[in-house]
Amino acid sequence: MGRKLSPEEQPWCIDKVSGKVLINKGVENVCIDKSTICFIDGFNSKLYYRGYSIEDLAQNSTYEEVVYLLLYDKLPTKRELTDFSGWMREERDIPREVDELLCRIPVDVEPMEVLRTAVSYLGNLDPGRYDTSREGMFRKTIRLVAKMPTIIAHWYRIRSRQDVICPDPRLNHAENFLYMMHGTKPDQLSARAMDVSYILLAEHEMNASAFTALVIASTLSDYYSAIVGAIGALRGPLHGYANVAAMRQFEEIGSPENVEKWFKENILTGKKRVMGAGHRVYKTYDPRAKIFREYARQFAEKTGGKVKDYYEIARRLEELVMSQLCETRNICTNVDFWSGIVYHAMGIPIDLYCTLFAASRTIGWSAHILEYIADNRIIRPRLYYDGEVDREYIPIENR
Ligand code: CMC
Repeated sequence: MGRKLSPEEQPWCIDKVSGKVLINKGVENVCIDKSTICFIDGFNSKLYYRGYSIEDLAQNSTYEEVVYLLLYDKLPTKRELTDFSGWMREERDIPREVDELLCRIPVDVEPMEVLRTAVSYLGNLDPGRYDTSREGMFRKTIRLVAKMPTIIAHWYRIRSRQDVICPDPRLNHAENFLYMMHGTKPDQLSARAMDVSYILLAEHEMNASAFTALVIASTLSDYYSAIVGAIGALRGPLHGYANVAAMRQFEEIGSPENVEKWFKENILTGKKRVMGAGHRVYKTYDPRAKIFREYARQFAEKTGGKVKDYYEIARRLEELVMSQLCETRNICTNVDFWSGIVYHAMGIPIDLYCTLFAASRTIGWSAHILEYIADNRIIRPRLYYDGEVDREYIPIENR
């Protein structure tokens, strides 16, 4: 028999005010650093990038401008934006070796896992991979932000046995992505909705994937390892993959008439969670969901058919969530509830949705890495030890 440690023997776990063991399960409400990148006011449905509200950015900005803003902490002049967008356009092509790698991956592999592999390989092929100067880090960031949509579109075409489409430098970031997916220039609504999607998902403070990136970067590991780790964290259904899970949930419900029954049987009984609802920080409606919901409505009206069905299912389910979970338990619908319907309307297969999230978020991860390593300290939390110590070691023949 060993003996249990007392809390006094682990004083770092004791709250100085209450004198009790304090465990922040899930690192809830722990501030790990100061930052000027993003602020979420989860009680008033507000989100700011570098001080600019998400509504203003979604209404007036472009993804290229938001990437600039997040990196340089200021809005660009016209000239600066033209030069910066030009830089992003020049970086869109991916090396032939990455396409060859994509051709060797089994077609049924989850797209987030494909993206993880491709980004890792892209890092191996970057001649400046060990350049840790600030300029070198900016260059790697632009390289990856620009190439990520090309990897996703090429994977989509390779697995569906279609020729890959090279980036078109005449198109902006969002238009070019849809062009590389489908081979035609997108209509106005799709082009703008995709641009807004990139903006809305670009950054979101210290979420699980950004934290993962910082944990890795804080050991002075390399940039690509940090991003690959972040992709791994985003891939879970409690985080970015919730946009895939939300659409699968709408598919499972099947029709607007089934919503109420499904909700009673699965949510009110506690069998399942509503995917695309609840948030660690938002205790009211997610402001990004509101913007996506409006695009989903426009697509449902314009396209009809399956998009309209999904929209109607989502609308009815949201009503139940807002009246039965949000009012009483602060579980409200979030960004991942609505984004998938918008992607579906643009002809993007459901299993790719989380990769779109990753492509947008790479700039947010990168901005956090840059900010954190400028004044680095290794991230090293503790656990409260609840096991025994001084257990007697019994030789194997006597056990
Ligand atoms: N549906 C039903 N109940 C829920 C939900 C939900 N979506 N989310 C939380 N709850 C309940 C949960 O069962 C728990 O109940 P109880 O106290 O009775 O055990 C309570 O609310 C607290 O849940 P929690 O897991 O401790 O909350 P958290 O802050 O740790 O988790 C979350 C946040 C986002 C992981 C969670 O709300 C969830 O699982 N949501 C569904 C997945 C999802 O939509 N994720 C996307 C988040 S937004 C975009 C992103 O960051 O990627």
